[in-house]
Amino acid sequence: MRHLIGIGDIDERTLPDLMSRAGLWKAWRSRGALEWSTEPLKGKLLITDFYEPSTRTRLSFEAAMSYLGGRVIGTENAAEFSSSKKGESVADNFRVISGYCDCIVGRFKNDGEAALAAVNSIVPLINGGDGQGEHPTQALIDYFTVTNHFNLGGELACADRTLRVTFLGDNKRSRTVKSLVRLLSKEPKVGYVSFISPPELAVENELLDELEDHGIMTTCRAHLHPNIIHGTDVLYVTRSQNERGDTVDAAEYALTPELADLMPDDAIIMHPLPRNLELPTSIDSNKRARYFEQAHNGLYVRMAILEWLLG
Ligand code: NCD
Repeated sequence: MRHLIGIGDIDERTLPDLMSRAGLWKAWRSRGALEWSTEPLKGKLLITDFYEPSTRTRLSFEAAMSYLGGRVIGTENAAEFSSSKKGESVADNFRVISGYCDCIVGRFKNDGEAALAAVNSIVPLINGGDGQGEHPTQALIDYFTVTNHFNLGGELACADRTLRVTFLGDNKRSRTVKSLVRLLSKEPKVGYVSFISPPELAVENELLDELEDHGIMTTCRAHLHPNIIHGTDVLYVTRSQNERGDTVDAAEYALTPELADLMPDDAIIMHPLPRNLELPTSIDSNKRARYFEQAHNGLYVRMAILEWLLG
C-alpha cells in the first residue's frame, strides 16, 4: 500500500505516468466529460478529513473522486466537528476512520502530522497540506502546469531550453513552495531558481541546498529587481502565511502590471491561491497569468493521483 505524504513518495517512473494520465483526463473533460462516462473507481469510498480551511484541495479531490465513479464523505472542519475537539489524537482519528473507507485525503495543522496519520492508516493517505510541511498534490499540479506550458518532455520539447523559476512571497512558510522546489530540483530542464521575499519570509537554507545539490543555481533577494523578472520563465507568487506566525503585509512585495510586462513573452505567472495583495487583480488580464488554469488543472492531476493509489 502506498501513501502520498511528500515529494519523496513520487519516484522517477511515477511522475511521467501521473502527468500523462492527468493530460488524458484534461482532454477527456474538454471533449465533454459527461458524454463519455468511465468509472474506474466505482465502489470505492474517499474520506476527506480537513483540520485547516480549504477550497481547491478538498473540492477538487471530491470532484475528482466523483468523476471517477467513486463516492466521498468527509468533514471540512475536523478541528471543530470531529472528536479532536474532545481531545482525540491524530493517530487515533486515522486509525478509526481508515477502517471506513478506501482512501483518505487529510489536511493538518502541524508539520509531520500527515506522516503520523499514514502510520496509523490502513488505507492510502494523501497529504492535502500539513502545517509548514509539504503539499505534494499542489506541487504535482504546478509541475503539470509548467511542463504543459513549456512542453517539457513532449515531442516538441526544446532540448536546450533551461528554465528560470522565481519564487516571490512567503518562501519560508509556504508548503507549496517547499514541495514544488523539491520536485523541480529533480527536473533537468530547470537551471536557475531565484527567491524574492522580505527578510522575515526568506527561504530556508535546506531548500537552497537541495537545489544546489542537483546543480541548479540559486539567488535570494529582498526585492523583485527588473533584472530578475526579465530573466524569469516561471514566476510563482505566494501569499504571506500570516496564520503561521508573524503577519507580513503582502503589499510590501506585490507584483505590479509594469513588472509583469517585463517578463519574456512566453513566461507564466502562477499562484497556488488564495491570493491577497501580492497578486492584484490587475494582473489577471496579463497574457502570462496562469493561476486559474493552474487551479483547474487540480481536478485532472488529482484524478490521476486517486487512480494511481486506488486503481
Ligand atoms: C495553499 C495551501 O493550502 O498551502 N492552498 C492550496 O491548497 N492551493 C496555499 C495557501 O494557503 O497559501
